[in-house]
Amino acid sequence: MNDKAIILKKPELRRYLVPVNTAATQQLFTDCLILGSGVAGLRAAIEAASGGCEVVLLCKKTLQDSNTWNAQGGIASVLGSDDSFASHIEDTLTTGCGINDRDTVEQVVKDGPGLVKELLKWGAEFDKQKDGSISITFEGGHSHARVAHALGDNTGKAIAEALINKVKSLDKITLIENCYVTDLITSDDGDCLGVISQNQKGMMEIIWAKTTILATGGAGRLYRETTNPEGATGDGLAIAVRAGAILRDMEFMQFHPTTLYIAGASRALITETLRGEGAILRDVNNYAFMAEYHPDAELASRDIVSRAILSQMLKTNATHVFLDIRHFKKDYFAKRFPLISELVESFDIDISKDLIPVRPSAHYMIGGVKTDNQARTNIANLFACGEVASTGLHGANRLGSNSLLEGLVFGRIAGQAAAQQCGKDGVSLKKFRYDIPQSDRSRLDTADVLNSLRSLMWRNVGITRLAKPLVESQEIISFWQRYVLDKVFDSPQGWECQNMLTVCLMMAKAAEARTESRGVHFRNDFPQTDDKKFKTHIEFA
Ligand code: SIN
Repeated sequence: MNDKAIILKKPELRRYLVPVNTAATQQLFTDCLILGSGVAGLRAAIEAASGGCEVVLLCKKTLQDSNTWNAQGGIASVLGSDDSFASHIEDTLTTGCGINDRDTVEQVVKDGPGLVKELLKWGAEFDKQKDGSISITFEGGHSHARVAHALGDNTGKAIAEALINKVKSLDKITLIENCYVTDLITSDDGDCLGVISQNQKGMMEIIWAKTTILATGGAGRLYRETTNPEGATGDGLAIAVRAGAILRDMEFMQFHPTTLYIAGASRALITETLRGEGAILRDVNNYAFMAEYHPDAELASRDIVSRAILSQMLKTNATHVFLDIRHFKKDYFAKRFPLISELVESFDIDISKDLIPVRPSAHYMIGGVKTDNQARTNIANLFACGEVASTGLHGANRLGSNSLLEGLVFGRIAGQAAAQQCGKDGVSLKKFRYDIPQSDRSRLDTADVLNSLRSLMWRNVGITRLAKPLVESQEIISFWQRYVLDKVFDSPQGWECQNMLTVCLMMAKAAEARTESRGVHFRNDFPQTDDKKFKTHIEFA
């Protein structure tokens, strides 16, 4: 890979979303402040507390509102006797299309089995085979069965519950739910000192921390169609960029090929492990089309399957395709995939007779806050891990089920780093004031802007992209920004809207700048991969 990234100019943004006056704001202190309750945040909390830190873990909503909790398929790790680290590393690199960070890939893959076993010890009920070994299955891009699952297709919940129980057993961790962080606070030298947040009672408070770990998760809710929970609005990316962090790979949003498509119902993930175990994709004419697009058919990588579905939808003038699991044994299906079984039954789909309507939707933000292999960002005292971070593991395309693994590995690393720093002197109370002049521009209805923004992203910064719509999107988003970013809001809907406009503009800009196709980023006007110019990252610095 060409180590020299392509640099785009960071957006010019007001430093803080809300006015700050330390003299009039309640203040708390901790050693280590963790934002986010997915696998990365929880794992970081355990490590930091075990290393002696007083930890405060903040969740935007509840402990359960995370992409981790909703994960179905599983966690990828070398657990099979015929598998090897070399093979998992190779599959991750091949899927990542030439821009993964090899050292990171090696580190994550090699740490995997130990961390999965640790989860078992902490009570995660991984499904087992008759001989007692962990049951593993296939997903696209994996040359060996290596996806461990728990409670059938309820893997995320099983992992999160084990981690939450462990977190709750540690006295040094204070959990705070329903707390919205508006910004990271930085010193005049640019070091991270903690956050400004709004607590459950609607009061603003400042939390000073020796180290802050950003584990705020994903951004699927920037799109009209997504598998992600409500909270996944990309706030962590926006607060990081306002604080001076480098963001990279913002053009790489991964779309999951199969989300249940029932008009009027909210979208729900239909796990890829179904295809791993033999589900067939058919178009509305009952044609099994995948072999036409790739020799690996249903098990080609997600970008290929998503584009194939889109193309088949266009060819057949349909809003969806189907997953065919009529050949699955009903009893086995109900036991192995209990979540999906319940879901399809709730829509009167009888899997032995009916096909399941599906189409792709936004699933996983590959880009994020640039970190090194110690989870450090470019801001002193600020670490990032999990989906909000860009560690270099995924390159231009994430191999299925590598993300829970990445969250565990880098959560632990970030927690260790925090523990090393917690012996340092505490962050003392700093006096400062930040005022924001009143806007004299018109007010827009943020709910309306958000709906329009999500549709715009789906249409113009979606599975396939073209220069003109990408440029148009930037103009439209910039227009909304002029009327939304200059306001002071006092509740999450307004702040989320400001953050989403910030992140979406960066995504559209990066997607316009990458005039090639690579991994999940597909340009209809530049369908080839251009290694000469683009075998590298795009960064906002
Ligand atoms: C799935 O179960 O298909 C999602 C797994 C992942 O995104 O890694």
